[in-house]
Amino acid sequence: MVNSIKQQFPIFQKNPDLVYLDSASTTQKPEVVIDSIINHYANSNANVHRGLYNLAYSADRAWQEAHETVAKYINAKSYKEIVFTRNSTESLNLLANSLALKEGDIILTTKLEHHSNLLPWLAIQEKRGVKVEFIDLLDSGEMDYDSFMDMVKKEGRNIKLLTLSHMSNVLGILNPVEKYIKVAKQIGVLTIVDAAQSIAHTSIDVQKLGCDFLVFSSHKVYGPSGVGVLYGREVLLNDLPPFLKGGEMVKNVKLSSVEWNELPWKFEAGTPAIEAGVAMAAALNWLDQEIKSVGGWEQYSRNEEALTKKALDMLSKVEGIEIVGGGDKHGVISLNIKGTHPHDIASILSDSSVCVRAGYHCAQPLHEALGLPGSVRLSLGIYNDEGDIKKFIQAVEKVAKLFR
Ligand code: ALA
Repeated sequence: MVNSIKQQFPIFQKNPDLVYLDSASTTQKPEVVIDSIINHYANSNANVHRGLYNLAYSADRAWQEAHETVAKYINAKSYKEIVFTRNSTESLNLLANSLALKEGDIILTTKLEHHSNLLPWLAIQEKRGVKVEFIDLLDSGEMDYDSFMDMVKKEGRNIKLLTLSHMSNVLGILNPVEKYIKVAKQIGVLTIVDAAQSIAHTSIDVQKLGCDFLVFSSHKVYGPSGVGVLYGREVLLNDLPPFLKGGEMVKNVKLSSVEWNELPWKFEAGTPAIEAGVAMAAALNWLDQEIKSVGGWEQYSRNEEALTKKALDMLSKVEGIEIVGGGDKHGVISLNIKGTHPHDIASILSDSSVCVRAGYHCAQPLHEALGLPGSVRLSLGIYNDEGDIKKFIQAVEKVAKLFR
């Protein structure tokens, strides 16, 4: 018997025994999202911003409405502040390549970032001679505010950008980014929030966060893959040069000069993943309703924390389990079993239809900072329940026994 939320997901209807605990990697998709993709192709398919016929107008409308839905969901001031990209990674690459960062400028980030919020900055460091500096972590894996304050207080340094993960994809800790953003703003430093993980675990309000830019991917928030978001304050996006050039992002093309299109289209070169963008909006509308039906984000977080705590309590009783990091975990737990390789654990769990991720989870420097060869990660989605946790623990106990 699957729970009422799982019933909305065809994959769980078809596989009632599936224990999917890999939502940090990608979430499963509810029927409304799948239907939205089918409906787009069956009824509204045309390219956007190119056709002068009714079908094309309806595609244009759906595309703009999808941007408006995202703007409303994250409390941006206008759809002009919402650029559709392929994913968080592309959004961060866009920023790394388009922001005016030059030799001697300093970018502050942390060692807990997943590779998407690390490699674009390391590449710019190599290409333009900017310097990437890392805020220290506490033993728990939480960001060390004192280390950040020491970095910003040092005089005569050209700190230009602060880019932080809102939630660690390994530790499940929600980082208090607001506090850091407030300081950055006082000293004129641009701020980016990587909401790739937090988007499915907490409410996101860009105005409350006070950030200049924020990124996330649709596929981690019950929407399709192939589409993601870059939020940017309108005044900043207006000044930012486009990253990709080509069709649709331009108003006027001469062989000697070009005039970029208006926001946000100036950043959306080429034919986009139209059906995916429309379905991402359907996913956010669906999630908004589901969260309301459980009593809002605060209640959702309390439920998720309770389930996470239950899993941690059960795990603490299994001999040989080592939990990665401390802090308050929000639906994400990484662990090791003494004497066992993470890949072996995940493969054996798969025999019990338990899906978890094993390895570095695209966060190798964090594992190295913690002195770990990798880990096994369970990550919850809206559909997981106590039954899933029990099946996971039973399967983990079998592995621990096998290697004891
Ligand atoms: N960054 C994604 C994860 O944590 C892919 O699994």
